Formats: sequence, structure tokens, C-alpha cells
Amino acid sequence: MQALLLVGGEGTRLRPLTCKTVKAMVPILNRPFLEHLFSYLARHGIDDIVLTLCYLPDSIESYFGHGSSLGVRLTYVMEESPLGTAGAVKNAERYLEDRFFVFNGDIFTDLDLRAMMAFHRERGAKATIALTPVEDPSAYGVVETDSHGRVKRFVEKPKREEATTNLINAGTYILEREVLRDVPPNTRFMFEHHLFPTLLQKDQLVYAYSSDAYWIDIGTPQKYCQLQYDLLQGKGRTSLCSPMVDGRAGFGARSSLHPTASVEGAVIVGDDCSIGPHARIRGPVVMGNGCRVLAGAAIEKSVIWNNVVVGRNAWLEGCIVGSNSSIGEGCSVGQGVVIGEGVTVGDGIRLEPGRKVWPDTRV
Ligand code: GTP
Repeated sequence: MQALLLVGGEGTRLRPLTCKTVKAMVPILNRPFLEHLFSYLARHGIDDIVLTLCYLPDSIESYFGHGSSLGVRLTYVMEESPLGTAGAVKNAERYLEDRFFVFNGDIFTDLDLRAMMAFHRERGAKATIALTPVEDPSAYGVVETDSHGRVKRFVEKPKREEATTNLINAGTYILEREVLRDVPPNTRFMFEHHLFPTLLQKDQLVYAYSSDAYWIDIGTPQKYCQLQYDLLQGKGRTSLCSPMVDGRAGFGARSSLHPTASVEGAVIVGDDCSIGPHARIRGPVVMGNGCRVLAGAAIEKSVIWNNVVVGRNAWLEGCIVGSNSSIGEGCSVGQGVVIGEGVTVGDGIRLEPGRKVWPDTRV
């Protein structure tokens, strides 16, 4: 089976993390997000993968190449300017088979793709849209169906009290290539606003496949962390890291923990890290490679990328710190703070909850 991945967006909601790193490459348990996605696709029998790139395209291709080391075959298709989700698929039309999956490149799910394909085939659908339930659909695109699963209507961001269903578009589709006839070439065109409504107007068979499989989109800092905390706690599934059993820490090669330091909860520490005297790490915490946590520092419920230095007696809780950043002595970094890559936070600084710090700056 074949899949096309949409990975050309700028990931504005995830800034400043996405200023230098494309959303599809942000680390999830210390591996690029796309690596988890490839492994999931391969598990479900999909090894022919087309990536549609636009924003920061080189980083993906230079990291994964043709994909042979991961057991998949990767084809890259570039857009000069963003063509939107359906426009990007149209732009890759020459590489596509008669029937293929499309994935938003920021979705992590356990959805059973073979079952979804069987559903699509049995109904002779032209397009099948995966749906997932959410508690509050008001921030999403809601999809209304009849009792057989045939799509009747799309409602973008309904008011909570007006939503007739909590099933939202999960960003995974199966398409027959012929539907691309309804997408104009070299034009910005979206699935939910343009292509799917056009197909409904033409009375084409568009079906919805609902499931309560694990599903999360990593489009915001909060969700980006949530996915990792879920995986650490055994929700969701990845074959790239063994899930941590609560209360046991996973340390990478050559990483050291001072005898007076303490680690609690679900924690992953990468390679070549050192946790100094009296430092405290309380999970869920994910720490990349080459990090140094100096004496007396405390880190709780946070995601730390590579080569980060956490100064003496600094305190970090509920935050994300990009690679090659350093947090000064005695700093306090509060809930929801997102620090970009290459940032220097001076000694004694207090970063208020929710603050975003742009890459390569000093505060
Ligand atoms: P935000 O700016 O935070 O909304 O992020 P985004 O635009 O990167 O992602 P969004 O959730 O809006 O889009 C869903 C998926 O489609 C993401 O994986 C994007 O990378 C991808 N995407 C969005 N627009 C385009 C586009 O114009 N071209 C391509 N190739 N991919 C796109």
C-alpha cells in the first residue's frame, strides 16, 4: 500500500520549536516524529511513502534519504509555495497509485489501516475520511454522516452547543486517484474547505471511518508534550522506544546519575547526559542527548531536547527547552514555557508561565 504524507506546513502553532526544526522532525522520545510515523506505516503494510515538502524541506531528505535503512521507500515532492493539503496531493499526482492513503504529517495514531482500507473497498468509496471522537469539537472540523457512515456535511469549528457530533476529521484519508480531477493544478486547495465539499456536491461516495484508536495531533506545545507523556505511560504505541514502567528511569549510553541525585516517575534520558549532585528529576520527563543537569537543579514534567545545560539550582516545570540552550543558575522556568533552540537564559531569570523564547536569543 502507498501513503502520501503532508509535511509542508510551517507549524506556526508549535513555534518557536518549529522556527529551525520542521514539525515532522521534532523529537518524540528522542526520535524524529516522522520515524515513528514510518515505523507505524511499515507495521501496517505501507512501505511506499510520498512526502510533500515545502517549509524547511532539506532537513527531512538529508536525514532519511531514500528510507532503505528504515525498510520504506521514500519519494520527495517539493512545492515552491504552499499549495494547501489537497493542492499538495495534486502536485504529487504523478507518483500516486490508483488508491492511496493521505496523512497529515502531525498525527500520531494507532488506527487500524488495513481495516480502514477494507471499509473503503467494501463501500466502493471515492474517498474515506478517518474520524476520531474528541471531548470538545469546537476547535476542529466536524464530519456529519448518515447511519451507514456516508458523509452528509462538514462543519468547521462548530460552537460546542451546536455540534451535532463529537467526531472530527482525524487527518487520515483513503483516496481514489480520480478525485484529483477536481483539484486544480498549482492552486492552493484544501481537503476540508474545497475538495470534500466539491465531491459531496457531485454526489460522489465519500465515507467516514470512525474509530476510538489512540489519536493525537502534535500541532501545539501542549499536545506535543502530551503525546510523549502518554507514550511514557503506556498509552499509544511505538516500537521505537520501550515504554517506561512508572517509577523506572531509562538512561542512555554513557549517561550518569550522581548518587545523591533522585529520579522518580516515567523518565527517558538520552546518551551522554549527566545528572549532578542533589539534582531531582520527576517524570514524566524526556531528555535528549548530551544534556547536563547541574547540582541542585530540579526538572518536573518537561521535554528537554539535545545538548541543554540546566544550571545549578535552576527549577523547570511543565516546559519545553530546545536544543543547544542553557538555563542559568537559579532560574525558574514555569508551566507552558517554550524555549527555542540556541537560547541563553541568564542566571536568576524567572520565565513566566506560557512565555515563548525565540531561538538564538539571550534573556
Ligand atoms: P499550523 O501553522 O500550526 O496550523 O501548522 P501546519 O500548517 O503545519 O499544520 P496543519 O495542521 O494546518 O496542517 C496539517 C498537515 O498538513 C501538517 O502536517 C502540515 O505540514 C501539512 N500542510 C499544511 N499545509 C500544507 C501545504 O501547503 N503543503 C504541504 N505539502 N503540506 C501542508
